[in-house]
Amino acid sequence: MPANVLFTFFGASGDLAKRKLYPALFRLYKSGHLTENFAVIGTARRPWSKAYFEEVVIESITDLADSPRQASEFASHFYYQSHDVNDTEHYQALKDLQNELGQKYQTNHNKIFFLSMAPEFFGTIAKNLKSEGIVDGQGFERLIIEKPFGTDLETAEQLNQDLAEAFEENQIYRIDHYLGKEMVQNIFAVRFANPIFEQIWSNQYIENVQITFSESIGVEDRAGYYDTSGALRDMVQNHTLQLLSILAMDKPASFDETDIREEKIKVFENLRLEDEDSLKQHFVRGQYTAGSINNKDFVGYLDEPNIAENSQTETFAAGAFFVDTDRFKDVPFFFRTGKRMTEKGTRVNIIFKKTDNIFGQAFDRNVLTIYIQPTEGFSLHINGKKVGTDFKMTPVDLKFRHSAENLVNSPEAYEKLMFDALNGDSTNFSHWREVKASWRLIDRVIDLWKNNHVPLHTYPAGSMGPKAAFELLESFDTEWHWHPDDWYREHGLLDQQ
Ligand code: BG6
Repeated sequence: MPANVLFTFFGASGDLAKRKLYPALFRLYKSGHLTENFAVIGTARRPWSKAYFEEVVIESITDLADSPRQASEFASHFYYQSHDVNDTEHYQALKDLQNELGQKYQTNHNKIFFLSMAPEFFGTIAKNLKSEGIVDGQGFERLIIEKPFGTDLETAEQLNQDLAEAFEENQIYRIDHYLGKEMVQNIFAVRFANPIFEQIWSNQYIENVQITFSESIGVEDRAGYYDTSGALRDMVQNHTLQLLSILAMDKPASFDETDIREEKIKVFENLRLEDEDSLKQHFVRGQYTAGSINNKDFVGYLDEPNIAENSQTETFAAGAFFVDTDRFKDVPFFFRTGKRMTEKGTRVNIIFKKTDNIFGQAFDRNVLTIYIQPTEGFSLHINGKKVGTDFKMTPVDLKFRHSAENLVNSPEAYEKLMFDALNGDSTNFSHWREVKASWRLIDRVIDLWKNNHVPLHTYPAGSMGPKAAFELLESFDTEWHWHPDDWYREHGLLDQQ
């Protein structure tokens, strides 16, 4: 059923809106989930006209549209309102426009507000939406909110209280765009529809789990935000822990929102809060220095524009989390994430324990790899026998990578999340109890790092992070399974170390 709904975007002139949000709505429009009865109000400070806003929207979807006519029909549903989030009079103007469009498009008072702007305004906007009567309890009213959700537990709690003045928890959709990714969703299928994995998904058979989110880009033009955030807040508190919770959760009683949520929350609330000494040993931070990859030179983080002199911000983080549930007690969940690493790639390696060796010759551990991006798929590393009269073991990879056609059809994360929000399904959004539990742990690490109790290591641009991130796994008698840098080195494209 197509939805009747009025969207209001705060931050409509921003980069995210153009790159992700308008294309996501357009894909829903093309697939018939939005038809005639929807309108979008874009707000931002700039004084844009409706005509100019439509042009911006059209430009953001040109590659996706079947015809210019289809693009302009879609864009005709977009309206613009210049808005100062602190000025209550502006909310009155917004309310008038909402009423007008609500009637014109018969949106049945259904409203979705999307906050995609500087987080310090989130609370103010929510409060004003309520006090100025825009949130009025008629129709459904949902608030989608971009990250970051606070910068520590205290600010997250404050923000949550502010939002709670206007919205109930079940109306708040905290975005973690990784939850909308096709292969993250696929983990549910792999884990819970295949007894061969379901049966062995525990500390009895799994030795460790390795999650890599590597990025080849640097800080780009986001210095203002990134230099006060760093990798731990930017990628770990949210994306890494969300992914971990899906990998570590128990089987939900059903595949519905409440049951899934309950199991995920259990993981978050069982994250081990290690003592200071263990945290110092188990979490590593790094910052990139100059380097070259593929014959391209890159400057170090400190030489990037607008980065504070002698900034101590980490552009790389690695560590080991533990989940104290019966299922995963004592299994390390290693992660690493950073900017300017060898290549862009998100993947999970599940490293299984070795079985008793009756062969008198070495063989590998089984490894299940989940490729989240840029390619999507799985592979299973197993042991076989080499063809021949003598008995020699040989590793074999069973691989399934999506075809190019599938990749094109994979919904963009934001399309999936918008679709869920339209349908009132918040399974793939972060619940407050998850956010709270993750900050409780991450705050402890941040405290140690802020007070320089742990060295800030460096790593050359193009590498897979500082040496300390490799030593971390050695201290657990294991190693990273994925080394893309080896390939580049072998091909003479990387000459470090
Ligand atoms: C964002 C971070 O949440 O995720 C960025 O703020 C990061 O720093 C991005 O680049 C990575 O997302 P994706 O989907 O490109 O892997």
